[in-house]
Amino acid sequence: MDNPKPGLSARETPAENMTEALISLENLTGNARLIRERIAGKARIMGIVKANAYGHNVHRIAEALEASGIEDFGVANIHEAIELKTGGALKNPARILAFASPLPSHIEFFLKFGIEMTVCDAVTLQAAKEIAASQNKTLRVQVKVDTGMGRLGISPSTAMEMLREIDQSPYIELSGIYTHFAESSSENGFTEKQLTAFKALTAEYEHESGRTVCKHAANSGAILSHPDSWLDMVRPGILLYGYHPAKKTPCRLDVKPVMQFEAKVIFIKTVSAGTTVSYNRTWSAPGPRHIATIAAGYADGYYRALSNKASVSINGKAYQQIGTVTMDQIMVDLGTQHNVTIGDKAVLFGWNGPSAEEIADIAGTISYETLCAVSSRVKRIFV
Ligand SMILES: Cc1ncc(COP(=O)(O)O)c(C=O)c1O
Repeated sequence: MDNPKPGLSARETPAENMTEALISLENLTGNARLIRERIAGKARIMGIVKANAYGHNVHRIAEALEASGIEDFGVANIHEAIELKTGGALKNPARILAFASPLPSHIEFFLKFGIEMTVCDAVTLQAAKEIAASQNKTLRVQVKVDTGMGRLGISPSTAMEMLREIDQSPYIELSGIYTHFAESSSENGFTEKQLTAFKALTAEYEHESGRTVCKHAANSGAILSHPDSWLDMVRPGILLYGYHPAKKTPCRLDVKPVMQFEAKVIFIKTVSAGTTVSYNRTWSAPGPRHIATIAAGYADGYYRALSNKASVSINGKAYQQIGTVTMDQIMVDLGTQHNVTIGDKAVLFGWNGPSAEEIADIAGTISYETLCAVSSRVKRIFV
């Protein structure tokens, strides 16, 4: 949605947007600085920019992170990696790691685009060896170890065998070993268990091979709660975007939201007591009321689960959202007196309204999902 239709110049399409996600690159770099201060130079930082940088726009986020000194980027898969690599935002030959175990047909593209590939199983490793050898090229891989997340990764008990095989493969180069935590914000001992298993494996590998390798494990929760897990590199995602991974973490950083989701007031009406609003008539006016219609709905990423539960901020004042959230619009109760006019901005979440975490709480989810849900129909504006 970023560009006008081919054949139409920007001047031939409306300049004013109905919905916008303001992206504060200043808040982003401030958050990156706070993370850097927290780890006090003890480890490299990999900027996690998967899922279009948690909905913020991967190119602009990666560009700003690179300018702030970050050289490593983590994405979900080869498609996102190619998008980042070829998008032109990165000035330097950054290291890009794709976290997903690849499909066999993807392997040649890691070679073609110089992306680091995650390896978690023998079949994929064998295919990678054959493809790299057939092209006479070296493929850089990182071995992902499942120490307890239960999603992707080779088990610690068989990882040594795979690491030996990689070291014996002339066309495969090991550039890292990593694991992922299942509940890193918690202090119940599970993260320590995962970390102990990971450290034992990597120590055995480094001892036996006589070489050192980049070892990494810490996501945002572990950056805050488990300093012993920082190792050679940390992998913050949600903290970069201005939110904490959990309500309670032993350490809090003064991070600021990077996204503000806004939509315009497009209609205002006056209704009498008993008038119902929206699908299934879940709200009726308790008395005469002014009602505003705002140009964002669940197709923009404003969850239907928020119906009758959330508030928005208009001109610095909170107004209750009323009636069922529809695909393209929501309604809010302006009360009996107001100074709202058509074209005013409603903040659905962000630094001048409810936070993405508050919205997530109401909808029964987490800030990660609330940020990622903001759809491509919403124009990103970089401020
Ligand atoms: C492998 C990996 N590392 C790091 C992260 C970043 O996590 P967070 O956003 O909690 O910092 C993620 C995100 O889920 C991930 O999948």
